[in-house]
Amino acid sequence: MKTLVKVGVTALLILGSAVCRGNIDIIPRPQEIESGSGSYEITASTELVYSKGAQATADYLAEVLAPAMGFELRVKRGRKSTGGIFLGLDEATADSMGPEGYTLKVGSDGIEITAATESGLFYGVQSLRQLLPVSVFATGVIDEVWDAPFVTIEDQPRFGWRGMHLDVGRHFMPKESVLKFIDLMAIHKFNTFHWHLTEDQGWRIEIKKYPKLTEFGAWRDETVVGHARHYIQKKLPFVYNGLPHGGYYTQDEVREVVAYASARHITVVPEIELPGHAQAAVFAYPEFASSAEKIGVKKEWGVSHHIYSPEDKTIAFLKDVMDEVLELFPSEFIHIGGDEATKTLWEKSPRIQELLKERGLKDMHEMQSWFVGQFDEYLTAKGRRLIGWDEILEGGLAEGATVMSWRGAKGGIAAASAGHDVVMAHNGYLYFDHYQSKDEREPLAIGGFNTLDKVYSYEPVPEELDPSDAKRILGAQGQLWTEYMPNMTHVEYMAFPRACALAELLWLPKEDKDYERFSRSLEVHLKRLSLQQVNFRPLHLDTAEETNRYQ
Ligand code: ACM
Repeated sequence: MKTLVKVGVTALLILGSAVCRGNIDIIPRPQEIESGSGSYEITASTELVYSKGAQATADYLAEVLAPAMGFELRVKRGRKSTGGIFLGLDEATADSMGPEGYTLKVGSDGIEITAATESGLFYGVQSLRQLLPVSVFATGVIDEVWDAPFVTIEDQPRFGWRGMHLDVGRHFMPKESVLKFIDLMAIHKFNTFHWHLTEDQGWRIEIKKYPKLTEFGAWRDETVVGHARHYIQKKLPFVYNGLPHGGYYTQDEVREVVAYASARHITVVPEIELPGHAQAAVFAYPEFASSAEKIGVKKEWGVSHHIYSPEDKTIAFLKDVMDEVLELFPSEFIHIGGDEATKTLWEKSPRIQELLKERGLKDMHEMQSWFVGQFDEYLTAKGRRLIGWDEILEGGLAEGATVMSWRGAKGGIAAASAGHDVVMAHNGYLYFDHYQSKDEREPLAIGGFNTLDKVYSYEPVPEELDPSDAKRILGAQGQLWTEYMPNMTHVEYMAFPRACALAELLWLPKEDKDYERFSRSLEVHLKRLSLQQVNFRPLHLDTAEETNRYQ
């Protein structure tokens, strides 16, 4: 077997400008690339042949090529033969290629993608799309020679959890835009969509047993104008826009999203927040609130102290909710939130103080830990796994819990050292709601400062971690909290191209990352995103056309 050489910076420089055909500008960068000379052309008469088990991937490839090419490739089951495109599934290669790996060969005798799993094949297909002229990403017919350069790629991801999170609680995002977001994730070989479905400012998933969650909890009368901090710091009354906002996904819509993601090898991990971020839910069902205070769905940004009461009846209610959630989401991991649960009302309530004593707990952190523990037991019994934000470490971590480390790496280090699995969501690098530059033309954001190169520099496995615990770091994900992103166009501006950098750092071994090369490939890649009508943040705001702004 030939040794594969990596196409390095020098080779790219010799080949000339980044847009020169023949360059490999795939994002995320494949691990091993051996370039040849020549190219193979796909035409209307090219056959797309697949082996047993690979039909869905073959159909997907034909479907994504058709809009720009203007023809649908003939898809048929068969053996590899000379010419055409062949997608081959061979489980026997699992050991050498890994569960998500693939080989992609383009030569004079055609295009061949092989993998041990359909996920691997799917990633091979994504790489093939990016080998073709960028116009293959157009949504209308283009007159083009559809040639792919001769190449051999052997590839597999570094991490198994390659995620993007989306908060649809602060601003509801219609199903169609969620589907587009999933397509964009697929292009970048992400495999986990963390769907943040419940918030103080809105409950977004239909629960049949508790219809008031969406009848009342999915709608707020109006929303604060500008940055919430402005009012808090100056002790000014909030000013609102007078515009009702809301929406929710029916269970049929949820099923559609889950199936759409699954067809793109993306697992949807739902987040049902507890015990905090519950104001919309306890407005709808005050019997599960921690105080009798009259409230509505929260209209301002910031953390509400209206959290669930830790009564047994609340646990029973949330288990009913979870029963329906588990029916809809086949994901092994179920996210229970756990962050920013202010204990003010628990501390003040004589009834909850009494409960604390009854349960033999020391303080309200232990009460939260008890609360989360109920769902660890429940999910484990159902064959699922609990994941929560790093606050679930406070008061004692539930036995089966996986930790999502957002307040830096500390929580991740503590959890991994204690033998728990971890997903990194570091707010210093992976919060895509933070500003992308100090340019005053940037749209209003929550704060922070997180540039593209900073994202690219991120290393998910903390240095402090004992090497024997490194395997506990399942991967990482980018966070899109939408307080200051009123619609999906704005979400795209904040997500891209930072998500491109994240996709690459999750895919490539650390020593193979190269920001210069990534930046050059990104110039080409952004043309693809443009053709997909993605409102990405331009690399240079001063020369950007108005069409690529955030609104
Ligand atoms: C978080 O940002 N509250 C997880």
